[in-house]
Amino acid sequence: MKRDFLTIWDLSRIEIEGMLRRAIDLKSGVDSNKCPLIGKSIGLFFEKPSTRTRVSFEVGIYQLGGQAIYLSPKEIQLGRGETIADTARVLSGYLSGIILRTYSHSSIEEFAMHSTIPVINGLSDLHHPCQAIADLMTILEKKRRLKDIRLAYIGDGNNVANSLIGAAARTGIEMVIACPKGFEPNQDVLKRAGNKEDAENAGEIIIVRDPKEAASRADVIYTDVWVSMGQEKEAGKKKAKFKNYQINKQLLQYAKKDVIVLHCLPAYRGQEITDDIMDGPNSAIFNQSENRLHTGKALLEFLL
Ligand code: CP
Ligand code: NVA
Repeated sequence: MKRDFLTIWDLSRIEIEGMLRRAIDLKSGVDSNKCPLIGKSIGLFFEKPSTRTRVSFEVGIYQLGGQAIYLSPKEIQLGRGETIADTARVLSGYLSGIILRTYSHSSIEEFAMHSTIPVINGLSDLHHPCQAIADLMTILEKKRRLKDIRLAYIGDGNNVANSLIGAAARTGIEMVIACPKGFEPNQDVLKRAGNKEDAENAGEIIIVRDPKEAASRADVIYTDVWVSMGQEKEAGKKKAKFKNYQINKQLLQYAKKDVIVLHCLPAYRGQEITDDIMDGPNSAIFNQSENRLHTGKALLEFLL
């Protein structure tokens, strides 16, 4: 049976832990000559721009011995009205797996339903699970544990926040989200992460309004853009609502001394985060972006 990776919930806690161990091994060069994707072609269909997801997967596929084929909506018939279902069936006949970046999460679900090959969510309006795996790896590398880490997510309750909530719930991270009213993470995600009857849930998820309260005693401070791809029309309104939610020197004073700062990138320097924090001693942001490569490879090995 094929396995998809559409949301973080598609992996059990044990599977996530195994994937993190494998990514750390891959980063340190263990089995770096293994080529499990020899003879396999992997598609990348992206409706939105991407630097990290596209390049890290293309490089990772090459390093694992496979071929990456980039498909843009303008260049395949899907962009002219061929259905998602037909495209999924056709591409399943050629490819061994596909990474999709779409506006609507339901497009990825529909593709997965009609394809016989593993589908990886490379970001949708609701989830960004590949990013969350790289975030966990970075926290583990820097803090040596995930359980009982206090992670403050300051900003928009968006796709990145939704996946991080699942990742935190699975691995025992205490996640405190500070966001303005009306910009909370997805309610279904919160409900699922907060379900005490799910034995896979180990971490506590809390929502507050005050960024200082979230940052207080934090081991990790995380932020993302205030205006996600596809929300450009709301930019003016959102920037005004989020102006007190910036990661800066003042906010960092509430956190633990050895706090690490994460951002999935791309960043709007001077908006959600200041230059001095992005480039300062607490920033693990560029380790985090590098880890997209290692975790992407571990994920491909696992699914294909
Ligand atoms: N973090 C991330 O997914 O970046 P890209 O949009 O550049 O892929
Ligand atoms: N929330 C951002 C993440 C970019 C990687 C967006 O969806 O644009």
